[in-house]
Amino acid sequence: MRAVVCEELGPPSSLVVVERPDLPEPATGRVTVAVEAAGVNFVDALFVQGRYQIKPALPFVPGSEVAGRIAAVGDGVVGLAVGDRVLASCGLGAFAEQVSVPAGAAVRLPDALDAARAATFTQSYATALFSLRERGRLTPGEVVLVLGAGGGIGLATVDVARALGGHPIAAASSAAKRDAAVALGAEAVVDTSTEPLKERARALAVELTGRPVTGVDLVMDPVGGALAESALRALGEGGRYLVVGFASGDIPSLPLNQILLRNRSLVGVDWGAWAMRAPEAQAALLAELLTWVDEGRLRPTAPAVYPLERAAEALDDLLSRRVVGKVALRP
Ligand SMILES: NC(=O)c1ccc[n+]([C@@H]2O[C@H](COP(=O)([O-])OP(=O)(O)OC[C@H]3O[C@@H](n4cnc5c(N)ncnc54)[C@H](OP(=O)(O)O)[C@@H]3O)[C@@H](O)[C@H]2O)c1
Repeated sequence: MRAVVCEELGPPSSLVVVERPDLPEPATGRVTVAVEAAGVNFVDALFVQGRYQIKPALPFVPGSEVAGRIAAVGDGVVGLAVGDRVLASCGLGAFAEQVSVPAGAAVRLPDALDAARAATFTQSYATALFSLRERGRLTPGEVVLVLGAGGGIGLATVDVARALGGHPIAAASSAAKRDAAVALGAEAVVDTSTEPLKERARALAVELTGRPVTGVDLVMDPVGGALAESALRALGEGGRYLVVGFASGDIPSLPLNQILLRNRSLVGVDWGAWAMRAPEAQAALLAELLTWVDEGRLRPTAPAVYPLERAAEALDDLLSRRVVGKVALRP
């Protein structure tokens, strides 16, 4: 089988594509997935660069989420059979023609989700729902300002916020990213390259609610960096700021007096750690999201699809802000 291998830590261009023997028969409790698509995520780039908190032994195959068909089933596996369409979060190993995953990680796919959408679904949508509902306590009618709204987490957040009855405002740097967010239900946009974020978001909150509110109710921030303070200042009474990621590479320092004012809260989000600690709760969250997809309540956007050989380019495009939505690799 072909696999993308990280032999030494460095930029994505240091990845190599090699021919490897097929995987052996799966061990007890595991299944082999014949990969139809692998999702490309920010965390994969961090692994390859050696910038993630976990440093796998070299060489390793990156790729943390996958969709495909079950090709082999190990002893002791119940409820899954060869040929089933599944998605799985796997940490590493997805950028290949085959990947081995614990049977518990493989989830059957609804017909509504093709392989490319399925492979780019879990991290973005689970983070979005976990952030908005479990951490942010979003209630219907509230206004959610989404930073990086044309990125993977951002677009999923717009979709989920709309499904939960919120009013999403999409903040993004390009027209293509803002358009993608509007297509998923963003009710207003902020052009972060030209418009003052705080003033515009506050004015939009009044417009969208039809009430003289003092600002937005939630900020979803997977970006960090220069916009963070303006976004914080855009929060109204009782507003919550969700700290989700630092795609800009810059971890901002925020003035604590802005948290005191208007009884705001700063809320950390670590979906990955929560999902590992509470696998049953994560399984229930994912099942709920997949049901919503099946019902048409969520509409995940089709990702750009690159051949497996272009894994380095896909990671580079992500790191260079060129991707609208998600990218998937197809072996
Ligand atoms: N806390 C959690 O549980 C959790 C879970 C999953 C992911 N994350 C993290 O969330 C972050 C975003 O993930 P994602 O999948 O949404 O990434 P993405 O698809 O690459 O989107 C990130 C967005 O950030 C903005 N950005 C600003 N400066 C950037 C820069 N220098 N480089 C790249 N992007 C920049 C871009 O939007 P504009 O061009 O519009 O500015 C871009 O669209 C990552 O750091 C990831 O590790 C956190």
